[in-house]
Amino acid sequence: MSVIERPQIRFTQLFIDNEFRKSINNKKFPTINPSTGDVIAEIEEADKDDVDQAVSAAQKAVELGSEWRTMDASQRGRLLHKLADLMERDADYIATLDTLENGLTITDTRHSLKFGVELIRYYAGWPDKLHGKTIPADGNVTTITRLEPKGVCAIIIPWNAPVVMLSKTIGPALAAGNTVIVKPAEQTSLSALYIASLTKEAGFPTGVFNVVCGYGPITGAALSEHMDVDKITFTGSTSVGKLIQQASGKSNLKSVTLELGGKSPLVIFDDADIDEAVNLAHFAVFVCNGQVCCAGSRTFVQEGIYDQFVKRSVELSAARVVGDPFNTNTVQGPQVNAQQLNKIIELIDSGVKEGAKLETGGKRIGNRGYFVEPTVFSNVSDDMRIAKEEIFGPVQQIIKFKTMDEVIRRSNNTIYGLGSGIVTKSLDNVLTYSQAVKAGTVWVNCYFVVTPQTPIGGYKMSGFGREFGENALYEYIEEKTITIRVDNKNS
Ligand code: NAI
Ligand code: MG
Repeated sequence: MSVIERPQIRFTQLFIDNEFRKSINNKKFPTINPSTGDVIAEIEEADKDDVDQAVSAAQKAVELGSEWRTMDASQRGRLLHKLADLMERDADYIATLDTLENGLTITDTRHSLKFGVELIRYYAGWPDKLHGKTIPADGNVTTITRLEPKGVCAIIIPWNAPVVMLSKTIGPALAAGNTVIVKPAEQTSLSALYIASLTKEAGFPTGVFNVVCGYGPITGAALSEHMDVDKITFTGSTSVGKLIQQASGKSNLKSVTLELGGKSPLVIFDDADIDEAVNLAHFAVFVCNGQVCCAGSRTFVQEGIYDQFVKRSVELSAARVVGDPFNTNTVQGPQVNAQQLNKIIELIDSGVKEGAKLETGGKRIGNRGYFVEPTVFSNVSDDMRIAKEEIFGPVQQIIKFKTMDEVIRRSNNTIYGLGSGIVTKSLDNVLTYSQAVKAGTVWVNCYFVVTPQTPIGGYKMSGFGREFGENALYEYIEEKTITIRVDNKNS
């Protein structure tokens, strides 16, 4: 066991045109330590004027003839590799910033940093491999296509895994030659600001990477309504995802990628190895304090093993070590803020009122910081709020089912469609379920195997567009068709 030292804070200002700046209107907002409720630091808050400055900087940097635009594609790749090297060099420090601000354990944030670096490296390999086509078009023409950057990309990210959220978006956006303006969640600005300093150290030209901090309805809205932002990528709640889409429609129809919430089913069949399945289902819902978009938060268990499954899940849950996220023994830190704590407790109370059986947990821990007991419900039915709404906390719903047809129907009976999973030894079960479930990802006998190479995204109200892998690059690319008339005398 060891307790990791809290970090010194180095950057709290906006990052525009490769320099740290105060906000024009001298506004600041506090960032809070969720383990204690104390203020960590005051961050400069960007409003519309600051956003305008960031957009101008990003626009200038992506103009034809700019340093960034004329740079060899292979050199863009080298810059991304350099950024990955610097993130790797400072990974332990950056992890402490996230642990301090969002309460994820130091083990989780170190893991996030490692994955963030892998994502940037994956996209660093792409710039000089992105190319268009030559098309045998009808008539006396030759047609070629060119892949061009969309231009200025606004990236609005949530607080639950700040560095992964940043890396999965800036990686493909920069690889494709765009410029970016990142708006971190107001709860977690520090790692984005520190990484901004690393982009400068790596040698990215002025204006290519910018960070504007602040609240969603002010800073985020100014970006999503902006006439000169060409692309917006949003990760967060479904309700704000709708606002982003509306803002695009009301302004310049900027292209939108949305990665939103989920209520993902994980289905355990009678033939599963019960110990493995219990561990997997536990991991699927409790990892990262339960604050994960594709959390397997509806655990469907076939009736033959249901009672035993509940008993073992309760034992695992009750054994979780909750506490100081800087302690390497801790597996669950505090929830990110009071709003999330209250939302989780309110949903737990609704579960009890609606008749689910509270097997363990269910309460806030202490009155300092935002800690919640690991909680397990059994006898959950589909119409209960805990089975329908995204809880985003350490709360497991174990739901009984009998047949494949029934579990397919019930899995899909949701507004969401992000993740899903199945645990079984039967290939027939695997094929039937994975084809029928309406979700962007199906994990078979595993969960959360998310890699830089594999696309992730949502069906239905979990969003649209795909991130990670090659797909993500095309979210940031315009394909231009160039058709050239040819004299066919000599062809
Ligand atoms: P949120 O969706 O409000 O925040 C995510 C980001 O959007 C933040 O950067 C925020 O500043 C920004 N934002 C908020 N309002 C905006 C607006 N009007 N225009 C532009 N940007 C805006 O999420 P919040 O309130 O922190 O959490 C609420 C719930 O959302 C959670 O309980 C959870 O269910 C869900 N959520 C899902 C996430 C996911 O990864 N899918 C991540 C975070 C939250
Ligand atoms: Mg919100």
